[in-house]
Order: sequence, then C-alpha cells, then structure tokens
Amino acid sequence: MIEIEKVYKSFGKLEVLKGVDLTVARGEVVSIIGGSGSGKSTLLTCINGLEPIQSGHIRIDGTDVHARSTDLNKLRRKVGIVFQQFNAFPHLSVLDNVTLAPRKVLGMSRAEAEEIAVRQLSHVGLADKLKVYPSRLSGGQQQRMAIARALAMSPQYMLFDEVTSALDPLLVGEVLDTLKMLAEEGMTMICVTHEMTFARDVSQRVAFFHQGILAEIGPPEQIFGAPQHLETQKFLSNVR
Ligand SMILES: Nc1ncnc2c1ncn2[C@@H]1O[C@H](COP(=O)(O)OP(=O)(O)O)[C@@H](O)[C@H]1O
Ligand SMILES: [Mg+2]
Repeated sequence: MIEIEKVYKSFGKLEVLKGVDLTVARGEVVSIIGGSGSGKSTLLTCINGLEPIQSGHIRIDGTDVHARSTDLNKLRRKVGIVFQQFNAFPHLSVLDNVTLAPRKVLGMSRAEAEEIAVRQLSHVGLADKLKVYPSRLSGGQQQRMAIARALAMSPQYMLFDEVTSALDPLLVGEVLDTLKMLAEEGMTMICVTHEMTFARDVSQRVAFFHQGILAEIGPPEQIFGAPQHLETQKFLSNVR
C-alpha cells in the first residue's frame, strides 16, 4: 500500500504540500481532484521519489521513499507514472519505445522485452501499431502507448497525472476506458483528473485538494453528492 503521512513539500519559499495524509490500499483507485496549483502533480512526483520532501513520510509497501538507503530505481519499477504530456522517442517505433526500459533498466533480452511489449500494447488496443512511429499516432493512441510503456515494467502501482487533459475531446474516452480496464483488473491507482464522471464511476475514493491540503476525501457519492468542505462545493459548482 501507499502511505502518505504528514507530508510537507516546498519549492524554495513556496509551500506546496502542507501536511498531506493519505493511505491507498492495494487494489484501490483514488482520484485526486482540485484547482490548478493545489499541489496534485507535486504529490505524485513525491510519491515516486522524483522530488524530495521537507518532512513527513511516504511509504510504498513499507519502504520509505525518501530514506537515504532506499533504492529509487527499484522503487520506481514498482510505481509507474504517466503524465499529461507524453514524451515518446520520435526515432523509435512504438514497439521499441515500449521495450526500451525493460531492456535498459531490467536488463531483459530483446525477445523477452518484445514479448512483454506486444502483450501490453495489445492490452491497450495498439497491437496493429507496433512498427509505426509515434508521430503517426493520435494523441489518444500516444497516451495508450505511454500506459503500455509504464505497464511493461510490471508496476504494482500506477500514478496518472491528468493523462487526458491535453487530448482532443473525442480521444478522451479511449484513454479513460484504458484506465477503467486497469482499475477493473485490480491495479492500485492514483489518478489526478478533471474528468468528474471518471472519478465518480471508477474510483473507490475521491480526494479534493485545495492549496496544498487534502481538504476532503471520501467515496464518490459523498464528495459529489454531499461535499462537506466549502471549497469542495465551490470547486464542484464550477466544474459541473
Ligand atoms: N519544480 C517546481 N519549482 C517551483 N515551483 C513549482 C515546481 N513545480 C510546481 N511548482 C509550484 O507548486 C505549486 C503546485 O503545483 P502543482 O503540484 O503542479 O499543482 P497542480 O498539479 O495541482 O496544478 C504551483 O504553485 C506551482 O507553480
Ligand atoms: Mg498538475
């Protein structure tokens, strides 16, 4: 499980996370919603050790992400992350984009890595795009390739940071369907999202962030149906 305990994070003088507590159980899907600049992306980058924190603890299956003794490379294999903006290697085929990390980081043979890549690309509906270059993919296909690339490392946790925000509205559905499929398969996921229907239908709990604080968390029925916090109410009345 992912345990986030009293996490404070600053960039210089700017306090971005002000004592965040959150525990995500195995198999759980938690959506994080909230205004721009509230610290949602920062939390995800702290969870997978891309950013240091000032105080508090983040533990993944008991391993403290920010302890000096922690092997971050090992930890990041366990925790996949997919961002809003997908950075594909333009000179590599879709297949090679997905086999790269398993070969370079996990030391797999090409054949082994290709077997996994083909499986994951098929899983996200890109079996017919193996030899294509990323520039020939639609935005939705590129994001599904990014998801396949993360899955090729066999992560136990997945973090998604507004993976549909840069997409043409017509392409949002196919990416959300992919996330939904992963959720149904039991993947443990934290999804920062502006897609309220997705948050409501797919997550077990929804967390509302406001100015670096996890202001409110609960099952979707509670957060969307009867939000307690004034800021949650304001936020939701603006997005709906
Ligand atoms: N690398 C960084 N350096 C300095 N400030 C940052 C950095 N990343 C984020 N911030 C600031 O931290 C705050 C929270 O950002 P972010 O976590 O991206 O919010 P959100 O994802 O909720 O929109 C913002 O004020 C942002 O400008
Ligand atoms: Mg963000």
